[in-house]
Amino acid sequence: MTCAQRLQGHRERVEAWLKNCFDGREPRGDLYDAMRYSLLAGGKRIRPVLLMEVCRMCGGAPEQALPLAGAIEMVHTYSLIHDDLPCMDDDDLRRGRPTNHKVYGEATAVLAGDALLTAAFETVLARETDLPAQRVLEAADCLGRAAGARGMVGGQILDMAGEGHALGLAEIEELQRLKTGALIMAAAEMGCIAAGGTELQRAAVRHYAERLGLAFQVRDDILDVIGDEATLGKSVGSDVKSEKSTFVTLKGLDACRTLVEQLTEEAKQALSVFGAEADALCWLADSLSQRES
Ligand code: IPE
Ligand code: IPE
Ligand code: MG
Ligand code: MG
Ligand code: MG
Repeated sequence: MTCAQRLQGHRERVEAWLKNCFDGREPRGDLYDAMRYSLLAGGKRIRPVLLMEVCRMCGGAPEQALPLAGAIEMVHTYSLIHDDLPCMDDDDLRRGRPTNHKVYGEATAVLAGDALLTAAFETVLARETDLPAQRVLEAADCLGRAAGARGMVGGQILDMAGEGHALGLAEIEELQRLKTGALIMAAAEMGCIAAGGTELQRAAVRHYAERLGLAFQVRDDILDVIGDEATLGKSVGSDVKSEKSTFVTLKGLDACRTLVEQLTEEAKQALSVFGAEADALCWLADSLSQRES
């Protein structure tokens, strides 16, 4: 099996799990439609795929990590719905579709995001999980820290506060580490937690995810400038429109391309303790460094 096939397998399992996750629920106006609209719109599923592959690499069974993988994708999708709102980045296109609030209105979009965030924790803490209770608790703690004020939401507020004036390198790094890095780090850590991985494994995947998360956001900033809207499936030029400080505004495109390459190499090196077992995650880092969407 090639690396690409293994990761595609994870992606397909997550996709199928997400498709069914709200089945049988009593309708609540158009709330579930709005949640499914964004959740099932075909994102790259990087975080759940990373989570499942880290679990496998650390000696666990990826299927056992499936609810954790679904949960992190719910948190991520909620962050995108809210990120696109008029009061934030005010964008019209996401995952190749009109943004959630364009279709369902702002109030429902806010509530769809709220409900996805809450559903993520319900999912992690659900009774029917195959994971030992201690691992479930650790995973919930990890996700909570990464999603909230100490993680993604904390980064989003720094991102908003930075609009309209130039930030320095350290400030940009900090906001990127939080707004994007925190959930990518949580994906890796939750995979290791699900597997019952060792401290050594945990430290290595943390290091990998930290470098990968930064590379991912620098590439995102590059694509906001040079990307093609149809390929990306989301609005381009959003950062310029909102006068955001990004790595691109600070360093320029060429330096950012070099930075992505460096960070990707560092990410791969961080996994050397895993030997050939890390092949798929090295492949993932390489493919994300050159992504066009
Ligand atoms: C977009 O994330 C927001 C950032 C953190 C840069 P992704 O690029 O993973 O978006 P999807 O999930 O593929 O839509
Ligand atoms: C947002 O970063 C990261 C989130 C927490 C959603 P961006 O605002 O750069 O993400 P895109 O470019 O809209 O996907
Ligand atoms: Mg934003
Ligand atoms: Mg945005
Ligand atoms: Mg962006």
